[in-house]
Amino acid sequence: MKRTDYCGLIDRRHLGQDVTVMGWVHRRRDHGGVIFIDLRDREGLVQVVCDPDRPETFAIAEKVRSEYCIAVTGRVRRRPEGTINPNLRSGEIEILAQSIDILNASATPPFQMDEDNLSETVRLTHRVLDLRRPPMQQNMMLRYRAAMAARRYLDEHGFVDIETPVLYKSTPEGAREFLVPSRMHHGQFYALPQSPQLFKQMLMIAGFDRYYQIVKCFRDEDMRADRQPEFTQIDIETSFLDELEIRALMEGLVRAMFREALSVELPDPFPIMTYADAMRDYGSDKPDLRVKLKLTELTDVMRSVDFKVFRAAADLPSGRVAALRVPAGGAMTRKEIDDYVALAPTYGAKGLAYIKVNDATKPSDEGLQSPIVKFLSQDALRTILERTGAQSGDVIFFCADRAKIVDDTLGALRARIGHDRGFVEPGWKPLWVVDFPMFEQDDATGAWVARHHPFTSPKDAYVETFATDRAHALAKAYDVVLNGWEIGGGSVRIHRPEVQSRVFETLGISEEDQRRKFGFLLDALQYGAPPHGGVAFGLDRIVALMAGAESIRDVIAFPKTQRGQDLLVDAPTAVTEQQLRDLHIRVRPSDAQKTWSENQG
Ligand code: AMO
Ligand code: AMP
Repeated sequence: MKRTDYCGLIDRRHLGQDVTVMGWVHRRRDHGGVIFIDLRDREGLVQVVCDPDRPETFAIAEKVRSEYCIAVTGRVRRRPEGTINPNLRSGEIEILAQSIDILNASATPPFQMDEDNLSETVRLTHRVLDLRRPPMQQNMMLRYRAAMAARRYLDEHGFVDIETPVLYKSTPEGAREFLVPSRMHHGQFYALPQSPQLFKQMLMIAGFDRYYQIVKCFRDEDMRADRQPEFTQIDIETSFLDELEIRALMEGLVRAMFREALSVELPDPFPIMTYADAMRDYGSDKPDLRVKLKLTELTDVMRSVDFKVFRAAADLPSGRVAALRVPAGGAMTRKEIDDYVALAPTYGAKGLAYIKVNDATKPSDEGLQSPIVKFLSQDALRTILERTGAQSGDVIFFCADRAKIVDDTLGALRARIGHDRGFVEPGWKPLWVVDFPMFEQDDATGAWVARHHPFTSPKDAYVETFATDRAHALAKAYDVVLNGWEIGGGSVRIHRPEVQSRVFETLGISEEDQRRKFGFLLDALQYGAPPHGGVAFGLDRIVALMAGAESIRDVIAFPKTQRGQDLLVDAPTAVTEQQLRDLHIRVRPSDAQKTWSENQG
């Protein structure tokens, strides 16, 4: 018996033919006398009918249960009028079974294959069965099509796939790393790469001109819906192109992926927004442009008001006062408004003020309802109404603090209110965010760190000044944003060893540390390094967006939980004493296991 067709691909064209299909019993319905089996394979479902005229076949059909793996041979016939299912490719036909073979029985599955509300724990523990479910089958096929479209595009444009090491070295700069102990070198460790960044740059110096790799990257960071400790980049680098040429080539790739995997035509070209404009108007460097709300700048106005909370923030060197106007927000209940206000502390804000605009023509107590109105002059109120474009019936939210907190708070509020109150346009809104700052200050330590990574080139105007004016230096760095997700980022790299050294210095990396950590790069840069640059896309995020999935876990075959565990294979696990010995490692007791006196020490 040989399979002739996929279940899900049988349709009208097969009418009258004898076919053999193999798959899993999705559903079995016994209609007293006739048994229907929905048989499922990766392409979809087909309905199999067994009638008692063939007692042997019928007897087998009576025995099969959910998720049995079976083979069915039979004739394709039209379904009776009224039983056609327009949602299925095979919805007009059914297979009248001549013979059924049980290829393998199945234990009773822990859940129904068409159950929608499965917990993540159940799904990830039983991932094999979870992956059998049609939505997951579709997601994984979509991922495959997207990756293939990327490969085709890159191949057509002369990019070659070159593998880079997974056992790399520790260069504690970006996220926390995963370490791998070395057996042969006592006390020494490899690190798993956070990205192949320096290898791809060295491939450019080695003359390969155009490189790509669909590659696993590893980051031991806190997880969210759009983050996994191991994830996949479409990693790309090219020589001899400038920032504009690289971006044009790379957005072509995103368009090709959406066209081929999803039949969606993205805008050409993608709109471009500077980082400064994105923060000013959206409070985010990855604005969701489907949301039709914008922030309003009020810092200058608030420098001269009596309201201390606002004036103090406006007077801070890094302070900001901004507003978010919600059209027709007056219809919100007190509780809805309070719930939004309650969000503010999550983003570090001390408060969120709001004004209900009852009559936009009266910039005073009369037209405006809010405890803060009495602290603001008529002039200030008039400017607020003008700049926000407020109409009667609107609500305006205000936040005053350090700019970063105001941006985070109002940026999040904008997205939340936009979705809650229907200010979201359907469709796809990609954009480039460009002109990122070269450096930023770490919140906790105050140390200056590279905003993208320390191999990113300054914009030409800042090559001489970046070391002395770190706060204002801009980089040739760019992100691709789609519907509020950062789906890719990259930059033009530094190709002059002298500039690279100065950037390291500016970041406070001593000459000794530069040699120890990045000596191989500084050396390679000495030998005629070409101008080069590139980008890396988050494949998981792109496919999650395409699939409309809430988490990238839904487009990764075997993902980790929020706590970094693989519930299917049960990882991580303890290892034997002997394994540890071979690796020259001793495990410290966890804090909980330590004795009281050790904890005091
Ligand atoms: P970056 O760190 O911005 O750049 O990463 C590139 C893209 O990878 C995706 N991404 C992730 N996806 C899932 N889980 C994660 N933990 C995760 N972290 C990042 C994002 C992001 O835009 N070497 C540079 C690229 C370059 O300069 O060419 C880099 O790794 O979509
Ligand atoms: P208070 O100074 O506590 O009387 O606050 C007056 C109003 O300003 C209240 O509605 C507060 O929620 C709001 N508020 C307090 N701090 C801030 C802030 N940093 N930004 C915006 N509004 C604030």
